[in-house]
Amino acid sequence: MLVFTNKNKIDGHVSSLKNKGFKVGFVPTMGALHEGHLSLVEEGLSFNNFLVVSIFVNPTQFDNAEDLEKYPRTLDKDVNLLKTVSKDIIVYAPSVEDVYEGQTKAQHFSFDGLEFEMEGRFRKGHFDGVGTIVKRLFEIVKPDNAYFGEKDFQQLTIIKKLVQKHNIPVKITGCKIHRETSGLAMSSRNTRLQPDYKNAAPFIYKTLKEAKQKFGTKSANKVTEWVTKQFAKHNLLELEYFIIADVKTLKTVKRKSKTKTYRAFIAVYAGDIRLIDNIALN
Ligand code: PAF
Repeated sequence: MLVFTNKNKIDGHVSSLKNKGFKVGFVPTMGALHEGHLSLVEEGLSFNNFLVVSIFVNPTQFDNAEDLEKYPRTLDKDVNLLKTVSKDIIVYAPSVEDVYEGQTKAQHFSFDGLEFEMEGRFRKGHFDGVGTIVKRLFEIVKPDNAYFGEKDFQQLTIIKKLVQKHNIPVKITGCKIHRETSGLAMSSRNTRLQPDYKNAAPFIYKTLKEAKQKFGTKSANKVTEWVTKQFAKHNLLELEYFIIADVKTLKTVKRKSKTKTYRAFIAVYAGDIRLIDNIALN
C-alpha cells in the first residue's frame, strides 16, 4: 500500500491513475480510524478502482487548543489497519507544513447560512476550517467521488454546498452512521471516554430514538422540552443542544410540515469529551 506525505507526489500518482481511466474515490479522515471510517472505506472501494484515505488532524477546524492537542493520533496503527483492508488504498498523511505551507489559517466561506446553525453556533470558525481543508484536499487528490459520514450531517451538507458553490468536480456520497453495539455513534473521540462516561454515553442514542417516536404525535417544541428534561435529570451527561431541524436548511423547525424532512441533532458533554449524534425523524 502506498503512503504519501507530499502533496505533489500524491497529486502526480493519482493523476497518472486517472489518465489511465481508473476511478478514484476519497475518504478524508483525521485518523484514529474505527469501524465507522472502515464502512466509508468499503463503500469507496466498491465504487472506485482506487481509494485515497487522508489522515490529517486539521488545526484550523479546532476552536479549542486542548481538544486539538488531545485529539488521538495513531498513524502507524491506522496505516496497518488499512493495509489489511485492500491493496487499492492509497494513504495521504501530510504534515501541517505540506498542506498549509506556513500559512495555517482558514479561508472564510459563505455556505448560505448553513454554517451558522448548530455546530457553527457552538464551535466558532469550525466550518471555515473544514471548508479550507476539504477544498484543499480535493484540489490535491482530485477524486471522482468522496465519502462522508452522516454522523457529521451538518458537515456533509456544507461539503455538498462547498462543491456546488466552487464548481468542484467531485460527487459527494453520505454514508449511514455506524454505531457500537451499545448504540453509541462511532467516533475517534470515544477512545478518550473514561469508563463511567462510556457506560453513560449510549443514553444519547436511546433518547434520540424516543424523541423520534414522540415526534410522530408531538410538536418539535414539546419533544425538545422532553429531551432537555431527560438530560437535566442525568448526573453525568450535559446537554449542549438538541435541535429538530429541516434537513435542507438546517434551521430549527417552528411548525411541522408534512412536505418537509426533519432530523434531530444533539451535542452532549461526557466529562470534557464532546459527542454529537443525529437521527432521521420522518
Ligand atoms: O470529519 C472529519 O474527520 C473532518 O472534519 C474532515 C472531513 C476529515 C476534515 O478535516
